[in-house]
Amino acid sequence: MPHTWLPVCPLRELGIGERRVVEGPDADILVVNADGIILAVANQCSHQDRPLDEGALDGDLITCPYHNAQFCLRSGEALSPPAYEPIACFDIKIENEQIFVADTPR
Ligand code: FES
Repeated sequence: MPHTWLPVCPLRELGIGERRVVEGPDADILVVNADGIILAVANQCSHQDRPLDEGALDGDLITCPYHNAQFCLRSGEALSPPAYEPIACFDIKIENEQIFVADTPR
């Protein structure tokens, strides 16, 4: 099924290490500028479903602020306990210098 693209913000407004949370149809989506690459994941840790958007960023890795599980923003893979399940990843497109995120995971 084709995605619906949700507007995020102008590309120039999302500097390296910055993030935005977009309301998706099912749950919030976290969009991050990870060292110049725009990546998007579910804004929900797979450990206890808490939001990830205030987690520390290290390149394309984010650490959950609650119990320090770490996730890869490219693959959604859980890299350290207490999370073991991956988080969903979403496609990004950039059109006319605007960032859009897919409304459903890839
Ligand atoms: S809620 Fe994220 S590590 Fe526990």
